[in-house]
Amino acid sequence: MCGIIGYAGQRPAVPVVMEGLHRLEYRGYDSAGVAYVRRQGIGVLRAQGKLMALEEKLASESAVSMCAMGHTRWATHGAPSERNAHPHTSNDAAFVLVHNGIIENYQEIKAALTAKGYVFHSETDTEVLVNLIAEYAKTEPDALHAFAAALREARGAYAVCLMARDEPGVIYAARMSAPLILGLGTGENFVASDIPAFLPYTRQVVFLDDGDIVRLSASGHDILRLEDLSSVVRAPQTIQWDMQAAQKGGYRHFMLKEIFEQPRVLADGLSGRVLDGDVLLTELDALPVPRKLHIVACGTSWHSALWGRYLLEHWAKVATQVEIASEFRYRQTLLLEKDDLVLVISQSGETADTLAALRVAKEHGAQTLGLCNVLGSSIARESQAVLYTQAGPEISVASTKAMCSQMLMLALMALYWGRRKGCLATEERRAIIADLEKLPIVLEQALPAMQHKARELSRKYAQARNFFYLGRGHCYPLALEGALKLKELSYIHAEGYAAGEMKHGPIALIDPVFPAFVLALNDSMLPKVVSNMEEVQARQGKVIALTNAGVKVQAEDVWIIPDMPGFLSGFAALPALQLFSYETADYLGKDVDQPRNLAKSVTVE
Ligand code: M6R
Repeated sequence: MCGIIGYAGQRPAVPVVMEGLHRLEYRGYDSAGVAYVRRQGIGVLRAQGKLMALEEKLASESAVSMCAMGHTRWATHGAPSERNAHPHTSNDAAFVLVHNGIIENYQEIKAALTAKGYVFHSETDTEVLVNLIAEYAKTEPDALHAFAAALREARGAYAVCLMARDEPGVIYAARMSAPLILGLGTGENFVASDIPAFLPYTRQVVFLDDGDIVRLSASGHDILRLEDLSSVVRAPQTIQWDMQAAQKGGYRHFMLKEIFEQPRVLADGLSGRVLDGDVLLTELDALPVPRKLHIVACGTSWHSALWGRYLLEHWAKVATQVEIASEFRYRQTLLLEKDDLVLVISQSGETADTLAALRVAKEHGAQTLGLCNVLGSSIARESQAVLYTQAGPEISVASTKAMCSQMLMLALMALYWGRRKGCLATEERRAIIADLEKLPIVLEQALPAMQHKARELSRKYAQARNFFYLGRGHCYPLALEGALKLKELSYIHAEGYAAGEMKHGPIALIDPVFPAFVLALNDSMLPKVVSNMEEVQARQGKVIALTNAGVKVQAEDVWIIPDMPGFLSGFAALPALQLFSYETADYLGKDVDQPRNLAKSVTVE
């Protein structure tokens, strides 16, 4: 996946586009490029590597223009290189294109174009598409019709911006299963993969639909339907959050800022959702309490789902199955029945596998519910009902506050359905809600000391080449999350395991240089976890025990975190795991916000 932006207005366009690309860099960062209107034709500059490389090239160009577009890439077709970087130009130099997504039938189209004499300089599907537009321009009346004709032939997912040499000051854009948002300013207009790209200039946005084509200039915009080029009107919405939310705000990294935002995320998530000891989830009032719930997600969102299952089964007695979206979408889902509810969790709301799983669930006639963070995202729009988390923009590639916000919503769902089913006593529900309301302040006070401890431990363990993360019950998904964070940020191999499974094989790996991070919280599983921890220590394994005051554990390192009752202790354990990974990666000099090989939202299969 990649980030794209287009601008037409009165300002110097290239700096506006470059600033936007910086805010989109989380979507991909292996190469970047810009295209801008020149006195004669369209200028294109591209560079391999992060945006800094492109900036260095731009410094020696006089790229003065009022209309430009840009791209930051996460390679899918063709290795990261300048040759494969976008924008791509048609053979006749009449069209220039940036693209996020995959054109699935590009090989077929390429063969047909090659037979007609087209020459390709990159391995990308994008270069094929821009030449297909050029080919259609030979017979279609204008650039718009050529653009639409080419898109009708292309199969796959895309968000694209196109510049035509003969229409300076105009940007065409289109969307099919990849995010694209219009930003409407005064005397200037924007189109981008995500709102922060243009948020310094406008909060008026239009979420485009699949099959929308836009013609954008400084003075206005038209939205047309791909199938017949009929006009449509889409109402603008006003974005409430401001640039502050999308900036580092004095922190060294977005990730650290986002970890420290979790108390606010919890407070915002509770606001308007709890009243007089009860949970309000009006979005769910019209849906029956599910007989069976299937939760589908990827990565960290999948870990939230696994964690939520413990609460949904315990508090609401809802049979819950959790699946990885990339598996669910291709499996014979025999268990899915008409009155089942499929809950699809995704921070971005654009993850390709999760979106596909949602569509599969709909084909089976199941009810669908989305739990998303990004307003107007594909999953939010395609689900029959949607709940939004209140995490605000999450910029760091490693997901942190989004998980906290998803866990909160899952806890609220379990309490809500528990009440509707009458299986959770009023007193118990009220006590849990009262404890939930204390969470923001407890965390706020605990985070600085947690960071301090995380830093101390990171210095001691940063040289480990392997790590186990062990937990039981609801701490097992948290162990999986701890391991994922360590892997993706510091590139240390880490495995999350159900502590009780260790003796069935993995314990063979334990030796004095293979430490284990054990979640030994003060809950009903503690005695079992302590036994599993002792089994590791008996094999000379070093243990970091994450635990609560008053718990008697013997370990190489003991890390005390605030004691929250029952499942709510997960909200205190999560930031400890995040901070340990953050501090370890930072100490090792890794690129915390943009780990190698990754991108924020995985919009390809
Ligand atoms: O946007 P989504 O929640 O659908 O994203 C799912 C995963 O791609 C995401 O959680 C990923 O695993 C993160 N890099 C984890 O930090």
